[in-house]
Amino acid sequence: MKICLINGNSQDESTTRSLVQIAQFMLEKRQIETLFFDVSIHELPIFKIDHNEHAEVKKLRSYASLADGFFICTPDYHNGMSGALKNALDYLGKPYFKGKPAAIAATAGGGKGGINALNNLRIVLRGMHALTLSEQIVIDDQYFDNESKLIDKNINEQLDDMIDQLINITSRINPSQLC
Ligand SMILES: Cc1cc2nc3c(=O)[nH]c(=O)nc-3n(C[C@H](O)[C@H](O)[C@H](O)COP(=O)(O)O)c2cc1C
Repeated sequence: MKICLINGNSQDESTTRSLVQIAQFMLEKRQIETLFFDVSIHELPIFKIDHNEHAEVKKLRSYASLADGFFICTPDYHNGMSGALKNALDYLGKPYFKGKPAAIAATAGGGKGGINALNNLRIVLRGMHALTLSEQIVIDDQYFDNESKLIDKNINEQLDDMIDQLINITSRINPSQLC
C-alpha cells in the first residue's frame, strides 16, 4: 500500500509540514510506503493546461498515480484551503482521486478556525470523486512549540487513530495492496 502525503503550505517554516511529517512517521511505523509531496519544496507553476511537461507537475502526478490513498494537510487561509494546495489539486483531479480514500487535516491560528478550510477541501475532493474520511483534525498554532513540534498528547492520539482508519479503509478497497 502506498499513501501520498501532501503538505499544502508553501511557507519554509511550517507547522503544517510538521503535521504531515508526523503522519508520515506514523504510516512508516506501520510499514506503509509513503510519497511526500511538499508544495513548499516542489514549487508548481500556476495551473495551465500546457504545463504537462513541468518537472514538478510530473512528480506530483506520478506520486498521485502510484498512491492508493492520501493524507492531505492545509493551513486555514481566510476560511479556505491554501491557494498553493488548490493549485496542486487542480493538476490532479478525478483521474488521480476517484475511489481513493483521503484523510484530511488543517492547521489554524486558533479562534475556531480550520473547520471551514476542511469543509472547503472536502468539497473540492468530492469534485474529484475521492473517498474522504469522516474523521478530520484541526490543530491550532498553540499546540506546537517554537520548533513546530506537536506538544499535545491527545492530538497525537487522534492522528494515530485517523492513520489507522486511513489504512483500514484503503486496504478494504484494495486488499491486495496491504503493505
Ligand atoms: C494568509 C493567511 C490567512 C489566514 N487565515 C486564517 C483564518 O481564516 N483562520 C485561522 O484560524 N487562521 C488563519 N491563519 C493562520 C494560519 O492558519 C495558521 O497560522 C497556520 O495554519 C499555521 O500553519 P504554518 O505554520 O504551516 O504556516 C491565516 C494565516 C495566513 C498567513
